[in-house]
Amino acid sequence: MNDLNKRIEEYTKKFKKDISEVRDKKSLQEVRNTYLSRKKGLVTHLLRELKTLSPEEKPEAGKRINELKETIQEELQRVEQNLESPRFTERIDLTLPGKKRYLGSPHPITLFQQEIEDIFVRMGFSIETGPEVETDYYNFEALNFPPHHPARDDWDTLYVTDDLLLRTHTSPVQIRILEKKKPPVRIIMPGKVFRKETPDPTHLPMFFQVEGLVVDEGINFAHLKGTLEVFLKTLFHEKIRIRFRPSFFPFTEPSAEVDIGCTLCQGEDKQCRLCGGNGWIEILGAGMVDPQVFKNVNTDPEKYSGFAFGLGVDRTAMFAYQISDMRNFFENDLRFIRQFLQK
Ligand code: DAH
Repeated sequence: MNDLNKRIEEYTKKFKKDISEVRDKKSLQEVRNTYLSRKKGLVTHLLRELKTLSPEEKPEAGKRINELKETIQEELQRVEQNLESPRFTERIDLTLPGKKRYLGSPHPITLFQQEIEDIFVRMGFSIETGPEVETDYYNFEALNFPPHHPARDDWDTLYVTDDLLLRTHTSPVQIRILEKKKPPVRIIMPGKVFRKETPDPTHLPMFFQVEGLVVDEGINFAHLKGTLEVFLKTLFHEKIRIRFRPSFFPFTEPSAEVDIGCTLCQGEDKQCRLCGGNGWIEILGAGMVDPQVFKNVNTDPEKYSGFAFGLGVDRTAMFAYQISDMRNFFENDLRFIRQFLQK
């Protein structure tokens, strides 16, 4: 009898240990077999041995063995339920690397525009903005485009009404500022502009410009040239050739267009994917403010002179980053966009 009691105690302890080590269904089944298997289970053995006891001893021992059997069954069931709960089935593997979360960031064009702004701000310019929906007067007429003038055709305008349009360039902000502010003026005016264009690698119906305007007494073409050269050399980290070409804009006289040497082939590749073999890329228009523009804003052209320029931000970004299709910037494929984000 004593021997049986001892074994009951021993098995109770051993079972506690065994069940605490169960981590999966397989080991659970092994524990079940060890104690309850019909042939070799330890508890089954104990029950079989009952018949060797005297009639006085039997009831007490039988009770204890049954209690042990019930405890074992309950525990097995409890552990089985636990194993099926999500806590066990979806165990977290702490050794796996974490998921990388990307923080938001300004768009690459915005970042590039900020670089441009920073350079001009360091040169003493301040930043102004104007509306994207403009009147015909500010977009054209005040800039010395008479009604029906053929030069208007160069700007493929999207009209809202006969008199309202989506601004085709940032130049109207020059007028809005000069109406309010007397010279000296030294400002840049960044913003979105719109044109009736079918998107292709070098054209978009919406793009960004940075307009510049300097008005004071004694401003001449050398100031224009020096400012733009310093700006472009800073933006392109000195590694750039620059060329001024005579051109025409109704609001400047004389007018120029500024090209930079191709940043990819340096003019050496007739098939270059960036410049198409031309070797030069046009990135901005500029000139001395036309006296008629000064008159339109009640500023005396005898006393004041000035220069202005308009830079295509997306175009310039294209050449700074050597991207041959501007549409990439706005298709928002994150694999493309993330290459430019702030680290
Ligand atoms: N507004 C012109 C354009 O969109 C660019 C331009 C040319 C701006 C000459 C200027 C300028 O301020 O002086 O093509």
